[in-house]
Amino acid sequence: MTSSQHAINIEDLRQLARRRIARIVFDYIDGGVEDEEGLLRNREAFSRWRLVPHYLQDISRRQQTASLFGRDYASPFGIAPTGLAAFARPGADLLLAQAAAEANLPFIMSGAATASIEQVMAVAPRHTWFQLYVSRETAVTEDLIRRAAAAGVETLVLTVDVPVHSKRERDWRNGFVPPVKPSLACVLDMLRHPRWLAGLLRHGLPRFENWAPYAGDNASAREIAAYFTSQIPFTQTWFDLERIRRIWSGKLLLKGVLAPTDALRALDCGVDGVIISNHGARQLDCAPSPLEMLPAIRAAVAGQMAVMLDGGIRRGSDILKAWALGADFTFVGRPTLYGVAADGLPGAQRALQILQQEIDLTLAQLGCADLGMLTGELLREGW
Ligand code: FNR
Repeated sequence: MTSSQHAINIEDLRQLARRRIARIVFDYIDGGVEDEEGLLRNREAFSRWRLVPHYLQDISRRQQTASLFGRDYASPFGIAPTGLAAFARPGADLLLAQAAAEANLPFIMSGAATASIEQVMAVAPRHTWFQLYVSRETAVTEDLIRRAAAAGVETLVLTVDVPVHSKRERDWRNGFVPPVKPSLACVLDMLRHPRWLAGLLRHGLPRFENWAPYAGDNASAREIAAYFTSQIPFTQTWFDLERIRRIWSGKLLLKGVLAPTDALRALDCGVDGVIISNHGARQLDCAPSPLEMLPAIRAAVAGQMAVMLDGGIRRGSDILKAWALGADFTFVGRPTLYGVAADGLPGAQRALQILQQEIDLTLAQLGCADLGMLTGELLREGW
C-alpha cells in the first residue's frame, strides 16, 4: 500500500505510519505504559458491547450530525490533543486542525503542541479548542489563558491526568525521554527512514511554540523543551481549577477524569463538561478504561454537564457504542495521528473519512436514520 487513500481502516493507517516514520516516534505515538495492559483494556471495553440491529426501517436518508455547546458538528467525534505531533510530520498540528475544520469537527490543540495557539487559530478559528497544561508559574498559566481568549478560543480543556512523568517503557528504552537521547538502535532506524529524517532536518527540531515566549529570548528548541519539561509534574489542585474558572469565561472542560466523585467536584467548580479519559492508556496502566466509567459518571452528574470520552476508539461503531451508553461526544487521539504520520493532510482526512463512513454504515445496519434513534435500548452486553 503506498497512499493513505488505499487505507480501508484505521489499522491500515497505523501500519502505513509504522513504515513511514522512525520507530522512536512511532513507539511514542503507539505506546502505552508499563505492560501496556491499559491499551488492551481500552479496546476490550468496546468489544464487550454489542449493538442489536433493527431492520425494515427507512434509512434511505441518514445523517450523523451532533450538537455540542450550541454548535452543530458533522459527526459526534473530534480530534483529541496530542503533543509533539510534528515529530511524526512537520506542521502536524496545523494539518490536523485543517482536516478537522474542513470536516466540521472540533480539534483540541495540545498544550504540548509544536505550533502556537495563534498559528492554529489562524488555520481553524471556529473549530479549535485549547488544552491547557498548568505552569508552575501562575503568571505563565494566566498568560496562556489570556492568549487563548485573545486568539478567539471558546473552549478551554484542562488536562488533569499528568501528575508525574509516567513509565512509558518503549520511550525509556528508545531514549525518547527528556533530554531526548536516541539509542543507537533508534539512530540506525532513523537512517532507514530517509524521507522522514529529511523532513525533520529541513524543518528543524519541533519546538513547544506556546512556551517559547516564557523560555527566554531566542531560546533554542532544546531550551524551550527543557523549560516545558521543568513544568512537569503539573502540580495543580482543585484550587487551581477554581482560579481558572474565575478568569476563563468561555466553556471549561476537565480532561482525564475517571472517578465519578471527581466529575461531581468538577461540576461544583462550575465546569461545563468532562472528557472521561485515561490519556490513551499512557499514564496509569491499571486505570479503568474510560468506557467502563462512562455509565457511573453519567449517572453521577445526571445531565447537569456534558460528558465526553476518549480512548481506544478505532471504529465508527465504537463511537456509536459510546453514544448509546450516554456520551455526548467522543474524541480520537492516535487514529488521526497515524493518518497524519502516514501521509500528512490526506492521511488525517482519510482517518476522519474512515470513521465517518463506518458510522454511516453502522447506523444503517442498526436501522437508525440519525443519532437520536440510537438509544441504550440497542445495546447488549456480550459474553
Ligand atoms: C496524547 N494525549 C494527550 N492528552 C492531552 O491532554 N495533552 C497532550 O498533550 C497529549 N499528548 C498525547 C500524545 C500522544 C502521542 C498520544 C497518543 C496521546 C492523550 C490524548 O489526548 C487522548 O486522551 C488519547 O490519545 C485517546 O486515546 P486514543 O484515541 O489514542 O486511543
